[in-house]
Amino acid sequence: MDTKKTIALIGCGRISFKHIEAFVKNAERMKLVAVCDPRLDRAQAKSAEYLKALPKAGVPKAYTDYRDMLAELKPDIVTIATESGYHPRIAIDCLKAGAHVICEKPMALSTRDADAMNEAALKAGKKLAVCFQNRFNAPVRKLRAAHEAGRFGRMLHGMVQVRWNRNEGYYAEAPWRGTWELDGGTLMNQCTHGIDLLQWMMGEDAVRVQAQTRRFLRPIEAEDFGCAIVEFKSGAVGIIEGTADVYPTNLNETLSLFGEKGSVVIGGLAVNKIETWRFADAAAVGDTEDKVLNPDEKDPPTVYGFGHEALFRDFVDAIEQNREPLVSGERGKKALEIILAIYKSQKTGLPVDLPCDFSTLEMKGEFDK
Ligand SMILES: NC(=O)c1ccc[n+]([C@@H]2O[C@H](COP(=O)([O-])OP(=O)(O)OC[C@H]3O[C@@H](n4cnc5c(N)ncnc54)[C@H](O)[C@@H]3O)[C@@H](O)[C@H]2O)c1
Repeated sequence: MDTKKTIALIGCGRISFKHIEAFVKNAERMKLVAVCDPRLDRAQAKSAEYLKALPKAGVPKAYTDYRDMLAELKPDIVTIATESGYHPRIAIDCLKAGAHVICEKPMALSTRDADAMNEAALKAGKKLAVCFQNRFNAPVRKLRAAHEAGRFGRMLHGMVQVRWNRNEGYYAEAPWRGTWELDGGTLMNQCTHGIDLLQWMMGEDAVRVQAQTRRFLRPIEAEDFGCAIVEFKSGAVGIIEGTADVYPTNLNETLSLFGEKGSVVIGGLAVNKIETWRFADAAAVGDTEDKVLNPDEKDPPTVYGFGHEALFRDFVDAIEQNREPLVSGERGKKALEIILAIYKSQKTGLPVDLPCDFSTLEMKGEFDK
């Protein structure tokens, strides 16, 4: 009997190659049976990409309407990689149809939609995960292990910097990018990973946000720059700096954490390189900075890193062990809520308390005043 989970991909655009790669690398656990995109040529291209890597696998069937696919194939798992604004409707349809769902980030563009997705998963008794794959980067896992072992002592402050370049060509390639209805700005799209990591390490309990965002250069509705101060329940403080405007190309994505007894900086192009590793117990634990730092380490070939494969594996483990995936829908909502609070703070000019109820749609016209 074939015990592999059947899986379907919905949305066959720019990021979908990472999904195909993750299906192929997890081929002993899952089998791609369908690819869906209203643009049939894109769906067929993904089917061919999968078959090229796994010539003996069956041909994943191409659909232009995911609802037909759900009715016909009833896959165990669906991964969603469509425009962000479409995630909630599609995820809820898939959960109601009995599939577990892995959804690209951000899971939704409003707190209400995120709540509706989490409620749908609960009601259906299915798992929901959000693609914050950087949680699975090797340096981030090492950092998390140190964090969980209590090596930082009291956490004082942390910072995430996302200094990237998304030029006019990037926005022209897909007109939904940078719109309030389907995407949001650079904080919601590019910086959401770093904001997720920051809040995860600071205790997952942000209570207040104060922010400034701008649309400096790009021909979009939403922001191409944002900065914020995030207060956590413990009193620890997080600082966020994110931009799509760095001249001339991507510079760095860096997470810095400062505790009473530890300082760690993970940088490189997309939080994949340990730059500082100092702990009071380093000698006792045997991981002094000179042993940990590797000056020859190279960035992965793209900013997406290698995390999708591990995240998809964790998801299958979660189904089989009937536990929550590492980045469950509830956890995936936390970064989203911080970003929406940042937007609200920009709109109102005031600090915003969490939990908050906000949608990107409430930002329409913000930079056209
Ligand atoms: N995890 C990451 O690092 C990462 C990186 C890039 C993008 N993303 C996210 O992935 C998502 C897609 O981004 P992209 O850059 O690949 O976008 P894209 O525009 O390149 O691709 C989106 C695709 O979804 C298709 N689509 C639209 N409606 C559909 C439907 N009802 N059924 C099936 N397909 C449908 C579109 O035709 C298009 O081919 C976004 O949410 C984005 O934020 C995540």
